[in-house]
Amino acid sequence: MQSDAIQLVKSRLNIADVVRRYVDLKPVSGRWMGVCPFHQETKPSMSVNEQEGFFYCFGCQASGDVIDFFQRINGLEFREALEQLAAEAGVDLQNTKPDPHADERRKAKRLFLDMHTWAAKHYQDNLGRAAGRVARDYLKKRGMVGAVARDFGLGYSLDGWHDLDQFLQSKGFTQQQGVESGLLSTNAKGSIYDRFRGRLIFPIQNLSGQVIAFGGRIITDGEPKYLNSSDSPIYKKGEHLYGLYQARRHMTRSRRALLTEGYVDVLSLQQFGYKDSCGVLGTALTSEQVRRLAGFCNRVDLVFDGDAPGRKAALRSAEMILLQGLKVKVVLLPEGEDVDSLLQQHGTDGFDACQTDAQDGLGFAMHTLRTEHSPKEIMTWAQDFLQKLQDASLKAYYLPRIAQGLGLAEAELRSSAGFSPRRGRTPRPRATTSMGREDKDDRYFLSFPIQYPDYVPNLTQKGFGTILKTSWGQGLWAKLVQHHGQDVLPHLDDQEKRFWAECRLKLEQSCALSGEELAGEWKHICGRIETVRDKCQRRELIQALKLAQEQGDEQAVAECTKALNASLGRNDE
Ligand code: UTP
Ligand code: MN
Repeated sequence: MQSDAIQLVKSRLNIADVVRRYVDLKPVSGRWMGVCPFHQETKPSMSVNEQEGFFYCFGCQASGDVIDFFQRINGLEFREALEQLAAEAGVDLQNTKPDPHADERRKAKRLFLDMHTWAAKHYQDNLGRAAGRVARDYLKKRGMVGAVARDFGLGYSLDGWHDLDQFLQSKGFTQQQGVESGLLSTNAKGSIYDRFRGRLIFPIQNLSGQVIAFGGRIITDGEPKYLNSSDSPIYKKGEHLYGLYQARRHMTRSRRALLTEGYVDVLSLQQFGYKDSCGVLGTALTSEQVRRLAGFCNRVDLVFDGDAPGRKAALRSAEMILLQGLKVKVVLLPEGEDVDSLLQQHGTDGFDACQTDAQDGLGFAMHTLRTEHSPKEIMTWAQDFLQKLQDASLKAYYLPRIAQGLGLAEAELRSSAGFSPRRGRTPRPRATTSMGREDKDDRYFLSFPIQYPDYVPNLTQKGFGTILKTSWGQGLWAKLVQHHGQDVLPHLDDQEKRFWAECRLKLEQSCALSGEELAGEWKHICGRIETVRDKCQRRELIQALKLAQEQGDEQAVAECTKALNASLGRNDE
């Protein structure tokens, strides 16, 4: 079972130790506090509870267990975070088989990772060999120094058809495996040959430093200028950033990321000392990539061409980043220049001047929209942007700023973006942060079993579920029951986790009820359960009474009336 493995990992890793790798923790009245890495903050607002194994930020409400923390700060998928932590904790995930093909997939992944490691080494070796002279000359011509080439594992793919092919075979891999891994290609006639030929090779690494794909720049003439690995079991375009593995540590210090478009641009920035820079890898910036960045910084400086397509790309990227609540700056370069050419010609002074002129991302977006777009496009953009915002507090933050920036009336924008006060019978959104009365009630009731889990069986028996009015409350209660006596956290979604952590923290902050108060609370909840049950029963009786009256069944009418009177009488007691 997967949850056994999760429990084992959690029991072997101390959450405070893991958090401490990224954040300084200080003891404050029996628990740990630190500066939250998930939002912009200088005061310690994150609490880490070692005994119960969870963290909670009083500022941004980020919360969860050690796996959540690790996942979030490293921008990983749950599975990846679990795998990395399991490896650290010495927990064998393979013995816990959640799906029958997982084993095969894991084997294939390991095989492809292996092949990429070998290929990266081979390309790198090529660069040092006699045949690699042309690539060395090219690097020199472009002003790239050896240290950066080494840090980023640059290599060279020979200008032939079977160099890597033969190398992989010598390491025991079949040609078929070469094709499946994407390192070799096959043509219509079935011949197999090297995918990358005569190219300067840029290895793409994941956050664990493993090589998962390559980009290759043509050195002499040829098309395309850059050839990239296609998607594979170990690489999905749009999920990774070039150089993030090397830049991440610097980003956690500077709290920002310099984001640019090209491979060479990243290397130049790195070479000139901008160690917190990485690249988008030739595609439009994705929300997944922004999530990864958000694990390390709270501000992204976009570096784009100053021409029309560059500004368009900057607008799109700025929007992606703003949507996730990060700060954005837009550094526009003089037309015809890219970061690399600018740095090579004018050094850091040239680039710093552009940085000084950088515009705030939201301001840039507003300005670009106002000056380059039609009223219709502006409205569509604003409505779209506001609708895509998932976080209600971010909506509240952006709405007046966007309205002002675009010269729109706030109320108008609010209603056209579809979040005016709820009208009529529109369905309730499930996971809002704004709370209705029913939510409040459910939260109030649910805090009891969360703080005093010993009562869960008794509450179940009494029918606690009947007093919960929201599907959110019902769902959480079902999980509390299902995982009673065990660690429930891994089974909760973000909102549930946050609520759970808040309840536990309240308890920890000495709001625990005394024996007498506890008994009172228990009685109150039991009372509520009975009231709800009576109400339901009465509703049913009234229905039955109506039916009996319609059908003229006098005996049934008498019985229902009697039962109803009894029920009402009970309520008067
Ligand atoms: P550019 O054409 O601006 O190239 O593409 P560049 O980065 O300045 O490269 P140099 O300086 O001429 O060597 C920007 C990025 O777009 C992707 C690559 O990631 C490239 O770095 N790209 C470009 C491709 O993936 N394929 C291409 O054919 C061209
Ligand atoms: Mn360039």
